[in-house]
Amino acid sequence: MTVDSEVTTGLAADALSGLWRNPPTLPTKWLYDERGSKLFDEITRLPEYYPTRRETAILRARSTEIAAATGATMMVELGSGTSTKTRLLLDAFAGRGGRFTYVPVDVSAETLTAAAEVLSADYPGIDVVPVIGDFTEPDLALPETDGPRLAVFLGGTIGNFDQAARAEFYRGLAASLTPGDFFLLGTDLVKDTGRLVAAYDDKSGVTADFNRNMIEVMRTGLDARGLYADDFEHIARWNPAEHRIEMWLRARRDIDAYFGVLGRSWRLAAGTEIHTEISTKFQPQALCAELEESRLEVASSWTDPAGDFQLTLTRRGSV
Ligand code: AVJ
Repeated sequence: MTVDSEVTTGLAADALSGLWRNPPTLPTKWLYDERGSKLFDEITRLPEYYPTRRETAILRARSTEIAAATGATMMVELGSGTSTKTRLLLDAFAGRGGRFTYVPVDVSAETLTAAAEVLSADYPGIDVVPVIGDFTEPDLALPETDGPRLAVFLGGTIGNFDQAARAEFYRGLAASLTPGDFFLLGTDLVKDTGRLVAAYDDKSGVTADFNRNMIEVMRTGLDARGLYADDFEHIARWNPAEHRIEMWLRARRDIDAYFGVLGRSWRLAAGTEIHTEISTKFQPQALCAELEESRLEVASSWTDPAGDFQLTLTRRGSV
């Protein structure tokens, strides 16, 4: 099967199970095709979008301490990275001398190959061992090493999971780790609603384009007629009960589309909203409690000076 037909098969299945629901929904991962990933990269540089800068600042201040506290001989990054954030950690581990292995984990072989090439060239002292896999699946097999492993999940991406999905993720991760291994998690924190909403509804409209790209993914991947991104309005809304930002796409007019790949038409009344992404914001105490329920014992946590974002270092317990 070619990559494109695999994409179409997965998208078709998700469309069939999500688009005729109330409210209609598609899994968040469909926001991150090539164009979506580029738009997200642009988002990280927007003045309103503080999380990336805050997390980077914490890592700048704490990477050496994290490397020393864990004494890890291997870093496993969930969602492979070549970013400044990954490099800050690799610099700290490389600075300690001794053997070190970096294991980027990603579903995309292409992304992994590119990351592995760049990082191998830049870090001659570090072994780069990519693993193709879905880290949301519980039985991820991690390479062995002779010291503690450090798994890292940065960017606040854990916020894309609801509470049940997070519990499942922590449980699966704890099962993949050995007692004494570490897990470093980046989370955005609850704060002033105005700032939160602005971070997901920026003045320049980049986040709106990012969200509407889901329509473009459907149009091309499902061979749609009568479906246009411009017919949808970007909505970013704070849900106070679930303490999360929710992104929706609201139909500006009646939609009458036809999906060639599904052989089905899809009608939406003007005003109908499609759910596309959640971004959960955390309270430090509740975060600590949910981690410890899953055998991930909190060793340290750090925030940036403004208290916007948090890195939490946990250690896999023995029970
Ligand atoms: C990539 C999931 C961390 O939730 O802040 C940013 C995604 N969506 N703006 C986030 C996102 C809209 C981002 N994560």
